[in-house]
Amino acid sequence: MNAVIVGAGGQLGRALRREFPEAVALDRAALDVTDPGAVRAFDWEGVDVVLNAAAWTAVDGAEHPANLGAVRAVNVDAVGHLADAAEEHGFALVHLSSEYVFDGSHEGPLPEDLAPSPLSVYGRSKADGDVRASAIERHWLVRTTWVVGEGANFVATMAGLADRGVSPSVVDDQIGRLTLATELAAGIRHLVETQAPYGTYNITNDGEPASWADVAAAVFTARGRSADDVTRVSTAEYFAGKAGTAPRPLNSVLDLTKIQRAGFHPGGWREALEAFLAG
Ligand SMILES: NC(=O)c1ccc[n+]([C@@H]2O[C@H](COP(=O)([O-])OP(=O)(O)OC[C@H]3O[C@@H](n4cnc5c(N)ncnc54)[C@H](OP(=O)(O)O)[C@@H]3O)[C@@H](O)[C@H]2O)c1
Repeated sequence: MNAVIVGAGGQLGRALRREFPEAVALDRAALDVTDPGAVRAFDWEGVDVVLNAAAWTAVDGAEHPANLGAVRAVNVDAVGHLADAAEEHGFALVHLSSEYVFDGSHEGPLPEDLAPSPLSVYGRSKADGDVRASAIERHWLVRTTWVVGEGANFVATMAGLADRGVSPSVVDDQIGRLTLATELAAGIRHLVETQAPYGTYNITNDGEPASWADVAAAVFTARGRSADDVTRVSTAEYFAGKAGTAPRPLNSVLDLTKIQRAGFHPGGWREALEAFLAG
């Protein structure tokens, strides 16, 4: 199995490097996926699968009109460049998506086939990227949430605040599950190795859905602070008066039935978080 990882410098990209040690790993400097000429010119000979971990992930930054072109270049157009190369050279494409393609109003876990209804510029771009990836037959479109790996993420931020003696306010009405980048990479490896039927799959850690405040409390406890040092606020309270922030879906819980039926059983997020923090 000859795999190429693009966007290999991000949280998922780094986890994929470890999960696919034999893969060619290309960070942005090695291959800018928004450059159609560079994607076309790359030597795809003999490549079986491309794992696309490149994305614009700064959700609030995406709302700034000056960033729109850059957001769509990587989250939409680049997916098209990779899909074109996949068609031409016969490789399969793994592309990553987000629950931000939905508005969060669905009751219960979000199935793969729910119609997109994004609230934000980032969510719109991911939904449009999904269309590009799904346009080719040989694709695995993997939706995930709340990714935690090497790099900037909510857990790292909370751990830093806990260690510095800060007591933050954290939203208590957005509900979801963490996804350890390592678990996500393992799930992707499962899809590719087992040659699971092409299509869309949700992959997150499992376990009881929780709020960001619950996650923060778990981080604080693991760091020897009190869970009560986290003040619980609503999303509306948290973002009041903060201009330029993206609307967030309140329900981020992805239905894991399909990936479980495909034979991959993600572990619980609390245990995974503990292991991550224990380092
Ligand atoms: N993070 C989350 O909570 C979350 C939740 C749901 C879904 N997702 C999806 O999961 C995927 C992986 O996310 P992540 O958390 O690993 O994101 P990340 O840590 O922000 O990594 C994204 C990577 O993409 C690279 N990149 C950006 N533009 C590029 C370009 N033109 N060419 C090549 N590489 C480029 C970035 O490089 P630079 O470092 O040079 O900018 C960065 O290394 C994304 O598709 C994201 O939308 C993430």
